[in-house]
Amino acid sequence: MSNVFIKTYGCQMNKMDTSMVTCAFKEAGFSLTDSVKDADVVLINTCSVRDHAEQRVISHLGHLKHIKKNRPDLVVAVIGCMAQRLGAELLEHEAVDIVCGPTQIPQITELVTKAINEKQKKLAITKNIRRKTPEYQTDALEKFETSFGIEDKQIPSQAFVNVMRGCDNFCSYCVVPYVRGPEVSRPPVAIIEQIRKLADKGVKQVTLLGQRVNAYKYIAGEKIYCLANVLKMASEIEGIEWLKFVTNYPSEKFFDEILQVMADCPKVCKYLHIPAQSGSDKILRAMNRRYTAEQYLDLINKARTTVPGIAIAGDFIVGFPGETEEDFKATVDLVKKARYKNCFIFKYSPRPGTTADKRLKDSVPLEVKKGRNIELLAVQEQISDELSREFLGKVVKVLVEGLSKKPHLNSAENPDKPQLIGRTETDYIVVFNGISSLAGEFVKVKITKTSPLTLFGELI
Ligand code: SAH
Ligand code: SF4
Ligand code: F3S
Repeated sequence: MSNVFIKTYGCQMNKMDTSMVTCAFKEAGFSLTDSVKDADVVLINTCSVRDHAEQRVISHLGHLKHIKKNRPDLVVAVIGCMAQRLGAELLEHEAVDIVCGPTQIPQITELVTKAINEKQKKLAITKNIRRKTPEYQTDALEKFETSFGIEDKQIPSQAFVNVMRGCDNFCSYCVVPYVRGPEVSRPPVAIIEQIRKLADKGVKQVTLLGQRVNAYKYIAGEKIYCLANVLKMASEIEGIEWLKFVTNYPSEKFFDEILQVMADCPKVCKYLHIPAQSGSDKILRAMNRRYTAEQYLDLINKARTTVPGIAIAGDFIVGFPGETEEDFKATVDLVKKARYKNCFIFKYSPRPGTTADKRLKDSVPLEVKKGRNIELLAVQEQISDELSREFLGKVVKVLVEGLSKKPHLNSAENPDKPQLIGRTETDYIVVFNGISSLAGEFVKVKITKTSPLTLFGELI
């Protein structure tokens, strides 16, 4: 029996793929290991969204090349977005035996078995990634998803479910449409069936995934299903307590329906991750984001009026080609107005093949990008701190994830009641002391201390 070690980079979609791949390997008779030392197979699930993400994989592979000198039988498989982007080039790397794109993951156990037996390099990627995904591939992915997407041991009681694959949005900076292929919404019946199976296994929180999840649209005869319909149907499943969904694209389409289901249905969490990317209309246009800063603010204001208590999170890219000090000020201004719970801020990284990379010069110097990143983070930290403080003395409902590794609290070493971590409905991180068997349970915590990104409290 062979041991498999899996390392995952990238977004929640990759985490979801990893959990399915893990199930598939177990089913095929492999066992999983936490250490490369015991592994016969090393699988790296990769991300191409920024150069930094790819560089980490390259250095990981450098390390594996070294290990393989003494252990030539070790099989190394690279799967995911970088596999699709670099294909044959990656296969040339001395350490790499298998390169398998996101569309080909249903073949992964077979590819690995063959590589072990035949000692031959294997390439499985899509040639024309933007061509409509052939039916046999969609069917294979659907089958893989329904067979192996029904268990998630990564966080107790929580699971991700893909509702869409790919992306057709073509934001000018983004590599995702070129590595994940065309946008496809999965049939609602398949999604609901999968969630039902997860609920049967004790899953309480499901996060629906899509690169543009609010654009979910499935036509079945006369009926058009949007995300709000899926959320409504999923909320009727017994055992499912919380439903979250990421990531949203700022657009009017289906937005009212989604906000309404959030307001009406207690199981749909009041949390909206809706990246703006920039506050400058000029930059938004260059990014091919089809809204203005004002339209964006209107959307989130509408969300706040329709869904009282909603928490909003965002993403920003600083140093996009042509971003002047004035454009950056517009972003700072937007962040101040939006009052996000938290924000992810990234320095622009040119991605080969994207229109921004082909047409625009990466004109903002790295030092300026770094400076803007730090400045924007500081603005957001102040807002996050103010919003966190509003929780002081309040009791929140938390779904416990497990042990918290960071030494946040003084009693972190308490063996009977170690430090636990969980999240609220609105995605706030809560840290408190309690028995470890609470992982996967809902608890109530009284907040006694706050920091910009974390609430601390006592179990009640
Ligand atoms: N589909 C999601 C997530 C895309 S990737 C969405 O549209 O929101 C996650 C984040 O990475 C994006 O929101 C964006 O802020 C950032 N990102 C994407 N491409 C980037 C690039 N080339 N350079 C820097 N950041 C990038
Ligand atoms: Fe990339 Fe834009 Fe699609 Fe998000 S919506 S994955 S940023 S192209
Ligand atoms: Fe990265 Fe692919 Fe996700 S490029 S962000 S792992 S879809």
